[in-house]
Amino acid sequence: MRPPFFLTGMENLEQLVTQATAAFAAATELARLEDVKAAYLGSQGSLTALLKGLGKLPPEERKSAGAAINDAKSRIEAALAARRDDLKNARLAAQLASESLDVTLPGRGQARGSIHPVMRTLDRIEQLFRSIGFEVADGPEIETDWHNFTALNTPENHPARSMHDTFYLLDTDERGGRVREDVLLRTHTSPVQIRTMLAHVEKYKHLEHMPEIRVICPGRVYRVDSDATHSPMFHQVEGLWVGEQVSFADLKGVVADFLRRFFESDDLKVRFRPSFFPFTEPSAEIDVAFMHGALEGRWLEIAGCGMVHPNVLRFGGIDPEKYTGFAFGMGPDRLTMLRYGINDLRLFFDGDLRFLSQFQ
Ligand code: DAH
Repeated sequence: MRPPFFLTGMENLEQLVTQATAAFAAATELARLEDVKAAYLGSQGSLTALLKGLGKLPPEERKSAGAAINDAKSRIEAALAARRDDLKNARLAAQLASESLDVTLPGRGQARGSIHPVMRTLDRIEQLFRSIGFEVADGPEIETDWHNFTALNTPENHPARSMHDTFYLLDTDERGGRVREDVLLRTHTSPVQIRTMLAHVEKYKHLEHMPEIRVICPGRVYRVDSDATHSPMFHQVEGLWVGEQVSFADLKGVVADFLRRFFESDDLKVRFRPSFFPFTEPSAEIDVAFMHGALEGRWLEIAGCGMVHPNVLRFGGIDPEKYTGFAFGMGPDRLTMLRYGINDLRLFFDGDLRFLSQFQ
């Protein structure tokens, strides 16, 4: 005779629970755990088979056997849920560990940038000239030969062209030879004078009395030159004031006042020395002398200037019988060297942080 279910089956059920718990514990991946689950609780699983077999038991055993199987089933389900939680927690912990930030690590720091000393000078020049009613104008660095030379009273073959060692843009002719284009890297900011006058005249052509032109034009210029005081790229600030009564006295007043404010020195000496530029007549060079400090008593040239030549006014579309003007061109790199006591221009353009970070 077959022993009643609760004598054999109970033991088997205990074994089954232990076996399932062990199998769950052996699964180290969630996906694997689900496979193991199927072997016990799935439609083909051992527990399901037992439940299906209930019907074959004698009726008096069915109830207690069913309760025992269901009890085993819920323990297996509980073991499964516990293992699933463990694996999920372990996965989360691993993820947190691999993505963790060590907030106790000292920061790498973000170096603070600073304004380039020459840009500081340009800002300061703009600010000082704006305060006396000047506007700031701009022009292209790749300039036509006409704007850079011809319209500034410097025609082709004029000896003054050789004063500038010009970077010309080259083109290729039909036979593959290199030919010079009528385009160059501007050698000075003076061509912005021409562009400003032409635009101004066009803008106010409907007026009988055009407003005065008062501009400064800061920017980069280029020459074939390189040593301690020359760089192939450097900066200039052009100034232009055109009106009906503008005189050399205005030029002296504006420039001397600017320089004293720029160097914050009321006893700065300013000297105008006769010179030549094709685009001004008369022309002068401007020197400054410092009354104290390392540069005391030395005259230093910082700008060229003069009354705008009648031909230049004409090229700008302005009637020289009615209007006069003055212009100047100064070197902000030079002004920066003087202001901070720097003796080599190339330091500005080497990008060496040991130098630049001193201006923070
Ligand atoms: N363009 C001149 C140069 O680069 C500087 C200059 C001199 C500009 C006299 C002027 C000026 O406007 O009037 O050497």
